[in-house]
Amino acid sequence: MTFVKTNPANSWLRATLAAILVSFPTACVQSNTLTKAFEPSVKAETKQAQTTSATYADVEALVNMGPRVAGTPVMEQASNYLSEQYRKAGYKTQIQTFTYSKFEDLGSNLVVDGTTINAQALKGSVPGKIDASLVAVPNFGRADDFAKVNVKDAVAIVKRGEIRFGEKARNAANAGAIGLIIVNNKPGNFAGGALTEASKIPVLGISSNQGNSLIDRAQKNRLNLKLNANGQNRVVTGRNVIAYPEGVTQPQVIIGGHYDSVAGAPGANDNASGTATVLAIARNLSGTPLARQAWFIAFDGEEDGLHGSRAFVNAATPQFLKGLKAMMNFDMVGVNNQLQIGGTSSLTGLAKVVEPKVELFGGSAANGGSDHASFAAKGVPILFFYRGYEANYHTPNDKTVDPKLLDETTQVGLDIVRRLLQ
Ligand code: BES
Ligand code: ZN
Repeated sequence: MTFVKTNPANSWLRATLAAILVSFPTACVQSNTLTKAFEPSVKAETKQAQTTSATYADVEALVNMGPRVAGTPVMEQASNYLSEQYRKAGYKTQIQTFTYSKFEDLGSNLVVDGTTINAQALKGSVPGKIDASLVAVPNFGRADDFAKVNVKDAVAIVKRGEIRFGEKARNAANAGAIGLIIVNNKPGNFAGGALTEASKIPVLGISSNQGNSLIDRAQKNRLNLKLNANGQNRVVTGRNVIAYPEGVTQPQVIIGGHYDSVAGAPGANDNASGTATVLAIARNLSGTPLARQAWFIAFDGEEDGLHGSRAFVNAATPQFLKGLKAMMNFDMVGVNNQLQIGGTSSLTGLAKVVEPKVELFGGSAANGGSDHASFAAKGVPILFFYRGYEANYHTPNDKTVDPKLLDETTQVGLDIVRRLLQ
C-alpha cells in the first residue's frame, strides 16, 4: 500500500515511495539516551514522560531564528533543525514541499464619501479595485443571511465571528457579491486574518469602530464605495517536516503541529510550543513498538490558511487516511494553566477518561482554526490540544513559554497515544 497518489513531479513523493520500498527492522531505529523516557519493560500506562529541558531548548532554538514566516529562508533553517532533531531521535524524515499563492498587501483601503478608511486584505484574497454600492448582510454571513438581502454586483459588509472567514467569502461570492468587507469584533487592525479557502472576490477587514458605523449607514441609506484591495499574489513554497520510523508506511496516528508563525511574531507559544511538544512525544516513544504506529509532522503554511496540513491530506491516498485512528494537533500549549482538548467526541471521551484534569470543549474551536481541521475535512478523527487565547497571540511579545506546561502537555499526549494504540 502506498501513502501517496503517484505524482512524479514531486520529489518528496518519489523520496517517500523510495523510503517505503526499503524497510528495515525495528532494531535499526536509534534511541536517544538523553530523551528516551522509559525502558520497554515498564508497563505502558504507568510510565512517566521524562521531564527534560530539551523541549524548552527546542522552543528557544526556533524562537531565536526570528519570525518563521512560510516561504522565507528562516523556514529552511527551521525545517533543517527539526529534521535533525527527529533524526537524532531515531526517525527518518522527509520534507514535503507544496505551493500556494499568498496575497501581499501593499496598502488596501475603502473610500466612502471622500473619506479613506484603512483596510487589510485577508490572506487568500484576490487583488481588485471596485466601485459599487455597499450592502449590509445580517448576522454573521451564513448562506441564509445572504439570502435575506440582494448583494448582486455589490460589495457586502458583514461582522467577524461564528463562522470562518473563508465561508463568509464563499457565501458572498455565491450570492453574487463582487467584494466583501469583514468588520472586526474588536478595535484596531485586522492583521493576521486568513481565509482557509482561496476567495474569488477581494476580501478586506476593517476595525470595529469604522465597520460598525459603516454597517449603520448602509442600513439607512444607499451607500456607494470604492474598494481597493491593493497588492499582488506571490507564490509561496511551504515545507512540511514528516518524521516516521523506518519502513512504517501506514501509521495509526499522526501527531502534529504547525511550526510557522505570523510576520513580526517570534511564535513561542504559537506554535513553537506545539512543535516542541510533538518532538518530545516522538523522543519519548522512540524505539518502542508504539512509535511504529505513529508519524510526526511539523506543518508549514498554517498561518496563511492551513496550507501545509491541506497539502498533506491532499497527497495522501484514501486508504492511508482511513487507516488513521486519530490526528492529534498541538497548537498553543505553552501558556495558560488549563489544558483544553477538543475534537471527535469518541476521542475526547477517551481523553477525559485518561486525563480527568483536562477540560473538553466543543464548538467552532474544534472545527477550524488549526491543522486538525484539514484532517477532519477528510473524515479523520481528530484531537486538538491547546491552552486557549492569550494576550501575546500573534504579537512580537509571543517570546516565551512555561517549560512545565510543555512537559505536562507531553505527558498528557503520551498517555492518550498509549491508550489509543493499546
Ligand atoms: N494557533 C492559532 C489557533 C488558536 C488561536 C489556537 C487561539 C488557540 C487559541 C492559529 O495559528 C491561528 O492563528 N489560526 C487562525 C486561522 C488560520 C486559518 C490562519 C485563527 O484562529 O484565526
Ligand atoms: Zn497557531
